[in-house]
Amino acid sequence: MKLKIVSCILLQLVLVSSLSIPDYLPERCKLSDPKYSNCLLRQLEKARPYLIKGIPELKLPALDPLIIPYQTVNRTLNELVSINAICKNVKILGFSGAIIEKVRANPKTLIGELSITVPHFHMELEYDVTGQLLVIPLRSRGYCEGNFTNTNYHIRANMKRIEHDGEEFFQIDKISLKSRVENGFVKLISKNPELQFAADTIANFYNENPRLVMDAINPIYVEYARDFFQEEINKGLYNIPAKELLPE
Ligand SMILES: *[C@@H]1O[C@H](CO)[C@@H](O)[C@H](O)[C@H]1NC(C)=O
Ligand SMILES: *[C@@H]1O[C@H](CO)[C@@H](O)[C@H](O)[C@H]1NC(C)=O
Repeated sequence: MKLKIVSCILLQLVLVSSLSIPDYLPERCKLSDPKYSNCLLRQLEKARPYLIKGIPELKLPALDPLIIPYQTVNRTLNELVSINAICKNVKILGFSGAIIEKVRANPKTLIGELSITVPHFHMELEYDVTGQLLVIPLRSRGYCEGNFTNTNYHIRANMKRIEHDGEEFFQIDKISLKSRVENGFVKLISKNPELQFAADTIANFYNENPRLVMDAINPIYVEYARDFFQEEINKGLYNIPAKELLPE
């Protein structure tokens, strides 16, 4: 019995400590580095191929392609814009082309900013949507494919320290995100071929007025993108002890 408890504790220790940063990743920047932001930018660039492919040792999923098996969207902005959608098998290609424009981080206040631009996104998904998009009623089920150019993200986050398993870790305390997609072109294929006209009406409206539509749905898009980034970043941070991520 005693042996069982001891081996159980040992197993737990092994499981916890096995989630340390793999050796192939670049060294972390030091808290005392007077040019911490420059260092962080350099190390991010070095880590980029691994972040893109995913880092199983840290349970970080691949970013390109980024796979989101299931996502619901249910928001009403006003009587002209409401979206109630179920998206399945979302596949997003393009993050590997991301250009890191600005990284600024203060390791003492734990406030950071990141600006990136993704020149080209390709997206595929299954959707089931009802709602209203300006003059177009939304009621369609099918398959969507789209290309989007020059998507920029500006993320600002405050970190906090939390404790679990007797160790300190970072988590996002507050996050704000701005994002703008420059242009896009989509194709919708209705599940029911007899309702293809409804899918075409939505796609044509978007393709003829991409700026108008994207500005109208931007608050919804930004909210979901922010929650997505926050959740993914927190999942990664949850497994990397603070003292490994930010050595003295
Ligand atoms: C969508 O949100 C509205 C208002 O918050 C709610 O009444 C409705 O039940 C939601 N629909 C789904 C499918 O979750
Ligand atoms: C998106 O771009 C790819 C590659 O250029 C092209 O094959 C595809 O037809 C485009 N899709 C749409 C919906 O424009």
